[in-house]
Amino acid sequence: MEDLAPRPGDLEPIETASRDEITGLQLKRLKSTLAHAYANSPHYRAKFDDAGVHPDDLKTPGDLARFPFTTKKDLRDTYPFGMFAVPREKLVRIHASSGTTGKPTVVGYTRNDIDVWASVVARSIRASGGRPGDICHIAYGYGLFTGGLGAHYGAEKLGCTVVPISGGMTERQVTLIQDFRPRIIMVTPSYMLSILDEYRRLGLDPRESSLVVGIFGAEPWTNAMRQEIEKDFDMHAVDIYGLSEVMGPGVANECVETKDGLHVWEDHFYPEIINPETGDVLPDGELGELVFTSLTKEALPIIRYRTRDLTRLLPGTARSMRRIEKITGRSDDMMILRGVNVFPTQIEEQILKCSGLAPHFQIELTRSGRMDDMVVHVEAMPHATGGAERSASAKELAHHIKSVVGVSTKIKVGDPDSVERSAGKAKRVVDNRPKG
Ligand code: DLL
Repeated sequence: MEDLAPRPGDLEPIETASRDEITGLQLKRLKSTLAHAYANSPHYRAKFDDAGVHPDDLKTPGDLARFPFTTKKDLRDTYPFGMFAVPREKLVRIHASSGTTGKPTVVGYTRNDIDVWASVVARSIRASGGRPGDICHIAYGYGLFTGGLGAHYGAEKLGCTVVPISGGMTERQVTLIQDFRPRIIMVTPSYMLSILDEYRRLGLDPRESSLVVGIFGAEPWTNAMRQEIEKDFDMHAVDIYGLSEVMGPGVANECVETKDGLHVWEDHFYPEIINPETGDVLPDGELGELVFTSLTKEALPIIRYRTRDLTRLLPGTARSMRRIEKITGRSDDMMILRGVNVFPTQIEEQILKCSGLAPHFQIELTRSGRMDDMVVHVEAMPHATGGAERSASAKELAHHIKSVVGVSTKIKVGDPDSVERSAGKAKRVVDNRPKG
C-alpha cells in the first residue's frame, strides 16, 4: 500500500502544537463555552444553578468535573429546539437521530458551526491520507443523519471532487467507483463489506479498484475487520468517529501513518473519561465512558455530554492531540451472559478467524427459563456452503467464542446473503427475550 504520511507543511499548526498551547486554548474556550451556555440557554442555566456552579468557577480544565453532565434525556426533554443557545433564525441546518425509542434528538448549527465542522472533517480526511483534488465517494446516508452531509462539506472544504451517492443501490455504488475512479471512499465499515460482496458478484477484482483510502465509522469495527478490508481492497482503512450531539463525524480521526487510535480534535472538543457508575473522572489511560464538551459550538454548546462509548484516553503520537483507543462498544450494546460482559465487536473478531465464514453477522438474544442465550447468525462463505463445512465452521466459531470471550453460544450458519444487510449502520443485536 502507498505510504501516505503527511509532507512538511501539510498540517495545521495546532496539530503539532505543544501540550501547553493546546491546554491554554482549551481553557480559554471552555470558559467562553460555559459563559455562552449559561447566558443563552435557559436549560443550562437552570442545570448549573441546581448544581450550585457558575461559569466563573472554572479556573482550570479540571474544574469542569464540577459541572453537571448532559445526556440524551436533556435533548429529549427540550425537544425540538429548547437546548439551543442562539435564536432559531440563526440556525442554518438541523440534523436529528431517529433513536430507537421515543422522540428523535435534534441538533442545530449556525453558519459558523457548519464551517468549523467542515474544517474538522477536512482535517480528518487529510489525516486519513486524502488530498485536495482527490475524488471522494461518499456512501454515508444523506439526510437527517450527520454522516453524509458532514463528510460532504468536509471533503469539499479540503478541495476534493465529491460524489454524493449516499447509501444503498449497491450495484450502482460499484459501477460509479469503477467509472469515476475515486481515490477515497467514506462509508460505514459494514456497508463496505456489502460493496465488497457486490464486486465479487459482478466478477470484478476489488484489489484492482482505484480506491486508496477508506474512511470508516459511525459504528464499532475491529482491527481484524480493518485487516480484512485492507487485504481485500488493497487500500488503507482508517477510523473516523463522531456523534451528532457533539457535532457529527470528525470529532476524532486516526492518522493513516500510525493507525493507532483516533486523535481527538482537542481544539474543538474537550474529552474526559469517567467511571460510568460513579461519574468520577478517570486518569488518562483508564477505560471508561467518553464524555465531551464542545469548545467552539454556538448553536448547541454541549457540556459534558455522556456518549455511552467506552474507550480510554492516550497521549498523542502522530499529532500532539490525545487519542482515544478504537472504540470497542457502547455501554448500551453490552450484553451480560451468565455474568460475562460481551460486546458485538468481540464476536466480530472471532468470526474473522474462521475461513469458512463471511464477516456479516447478527446476534440474537433469547431466554430459556431464567437464562439468557445468545445465537450468532452468520453466513457460509460461497466456497464453504456444504453441510459438513457449515457444521465445522459453526464448531470452530463456538470454540473461539468460548475460549476467548468466555461464553457458550449457539451458531447458525446460513446461506450467503442470509444475514440482514443495512446500507448504513449495521444492526448487530436483536433482542428476542420476553419483555418485562
Ligand atoms: O454516527 C456520526 C458519524 C457519521 C461518525 C459518519 C462517523 C462517520 P450518530 O448517529 O449520532 O453519529 O451516532 C453516534 O455512533 O456515539 C458511537 O456509538 C457510534 N460511532 C460513531 N463513530 C464510531 C466509530 C454518527 N468510529 C454513535 N467507532 C457514537 C465506533 C462509532 N463507534
